[in-house]
Amino acid sequence: MNVTFRVFRFDPTREAEPRFQEYILQAEPTEKVLDCINRIRWEQDASLAFRMSCAHGICGSDGMHINGVCALACQRLVKDYPEGLITIEPLPNFRVLKDLIVDLDPFFEKHRAARPFLFPRGPEPERERLQSQEDRAAFDEAIRCILCACCTAACPITPQDPEFLGPAALLRAFRYLFDSRDGADRDRMEELDNPHGIWGCKGHGKCTEVCPKEIDVRKWLGRIKKRIHDAKRIAR
Ligand code: FES
Repeated sequence: MNVTFRVFRFDPTREAEPRFQEYILQAEPTEKVLDCINRIRWEQDASLAFRMSCAHGICGSDGMHINGVCALACQRLVKDYPEGLITIEPLPNFRVLKDLIVDLDPFFEKHRAARPFLFPRGPEPERERLQSQEDRAAFDEAIRCILCACCTAACPITPQDPEFLGPAALLRAFRYLFDSRDGADRDRMEELDNPHGIWGCKGHGKCTEVCPKEIDVRKWLGRIKKRIHDAKRIAR
């Protein structure tokens, strides 16, 4: 089928305004959008800039705004857009570096702020720190996150509050807060207990809608809220 790709183009070092450029491609319905963009670059326009790596939904580098929805280009097929027009823009709410490439430094700074590592609970054991299957299952879904930033780009709070940690960083905080081997739960809860932390989340659920790993982000962020709420109630 003939597909028209309307692609956002912008080089802020040379252009005053962004523009859209159209490319027409003969594509198979089962072809990935990412493969089509690759073909555009190889066959029509080598100047088109975008990120990609694994092409299989693992690395999280090809998050884009495709027909108005944040998604991984490697997980979208041409037949998902039967009207034959695919508009591709960079992830919203991030600064554009070039074309479809955005500056993800603020995203990863917030991820670091969530302290995504274990503070081991108790004395060091002779061998590894054991964990029951039930305890491990508590954060099973959350570790599927590949940090593609689709959730944070889609969250309506992101443009309203630049200091908001955002769903991806909060989900990572959840993963450690609910890890039975972690001993920093009090500190973690204190760090999250503010309007730019967990209470910045208003439960819109856009994060859950767009997550390419089908993580129910809103649900897990709700668990953080409940845990902080319960801890305060017990302390009173
Ligand atoms: S290219 Fe790796 S997730 Fe799509």
